[in-house]
Amino acid sequence: MLSWDDFNQEEQPTPVSKPNTEQPPIQNPTVNEVVQEAIQAVPEPKPARVEPALETTIDSSDKQNNANALQRAISDLQSLDVAAGLDELEGTANRVAVDDKRMINCRADLNQLVPFKYDWAWQKYLDGCANHWMPQEVNMNADIALWKNPNGLTDDERLIVQRNLGFFATADSLVANNLVLAIYRLITNPECRQYILRQAFEEAIHTHAYQYCIESLAMDEGEIFNMYHEVPSVAKKASWGLKYTQSLSDPNFNTGTIETDQELLKNLIAFYCCLEGIFFYCGFTQILSMGRRNKMTGTSEQFQYILRDESMHLNFGIDMINQIKLENPQLWNDEMKEQATQMILQATQLEIEYARDTMPRGVLGMNAAMMEEYLQFIANRRLVQIGLPEQFKGVSNPFPWMSEIMDLRKEKNFFETRVIEYQTGGALSWD
Ligand SMILES: [Fe+2]
Ligand SMILES: [Fe+2]
Repeated sequence: MLSWDDFNQEEQPTPVSKPNTEQPPIQNPTVNEVVQEAIQAVPEPKPARVEPALETTIDSSDKQNNANALQRAISDLQSLDVAAGLDELEGTANRVAVDDKRMINCRADLNQLVPFKYDWAWQKYLDGCANHWMPQEVNMNADIALWKNPNGLTDDERLIVQRNLGFFATADSLVANNLVLAIYRLITNPECRQYILRQAFEEAIHTHAYQYCIESLAMDEGEIFNMYHEVPSVAKKASWGLKYTQSLSDPNFNTGTIETDQELLKNLIAFYCCLEGIFFYCGFTQILSMGRRNKMTGTSEQFQYILRDESMHLNFGIDMINQIKLENPQLWNDEMKEQATQMILQATQLEIEYARDTMPRGVLGMNAAMMEEYLQFIANRRLVQIGLPEQFKGVSNPFPWMSEIMDLRKEKNFFETRVIEYQTGGALSWD
């Protein structure tokens, strides 16, 4: 064990190489001899450069310099104009009242979390924290053995695992980027921002989870992480989402007109309803179906945790969209409704293409036609959730077990999780 005495010995000055010497090295010099020799060899100190390793005391000019620096700091603080600093923070002159708060274009102080106006946002933040999990807690051993076994999975099953890890490994990063680089500053409500920050962290955990699966299975990381460039059915979904983030991530973009407010609304519909609410559902269903058949159970468990988080992201996004509509009814005109409907139809179509690409044949008790009906069922739900009429009449859910998984209450701890431990085990003890 390293004692403080050892530590002090380690702190002895290190020898400095001697310039312009023709002498051979001294045989077995003591530390003191080396230091003394080095000190003599060092030229007179120049004002601009001090050899710190050889300084054992602070000389008087250093003390004077320090005193001057401290005096300047105190003097600057004495002349600090606090009011000018606060003016930099929008609307901070007054205490915030609930009625001052608005989802977008709000002028009230955004650093005053309370009083809450949107309890649903704060509650989701609390629920998200209570559901905390980490990818390393999931045992991947059975997946590794199955993946390495040449007879463990069919080619069609392997394709599903690879494609989905490829899509999701970058998709969650696109979502996180949209949160922090585009919408965070435009949503002018602190309780919603609090949830957005939580969501951003969860997206990082999801990306971590996919990386953890890819690493565990010793997959070709370059191939997997580049699918969103290289595999058309994956690339189309990614580029469709990116289209809606481009203008908003311009630092000069601001809301405040009908056009720009509608642009923000379209971004929220694209990312929450379409990307997280439709593009994730073929993959979730395929991987969870695998887990139900006792295959790739670790990967499936990771996806179950992620699906639980994503369900909450989706619901939060829908609450935000509907609240913005409520506070700004002029935005939700016929043209906007038509555009929102088109966006959901386009996203559904891209996801159907993805289902066909990932399931060229029937596999795991499902096929592309069943997935098409499921996605139409999901699209109807997304439309209704934001106040639009269904577009696919008479479709039903061919995978009712998916709803059962999503509808389970979080408190049931249904994935053999450590969620409850997180709720009690994170407290600090000062004993
Ligand atoms: Fe995610
Ligand atoms: Fe998400």
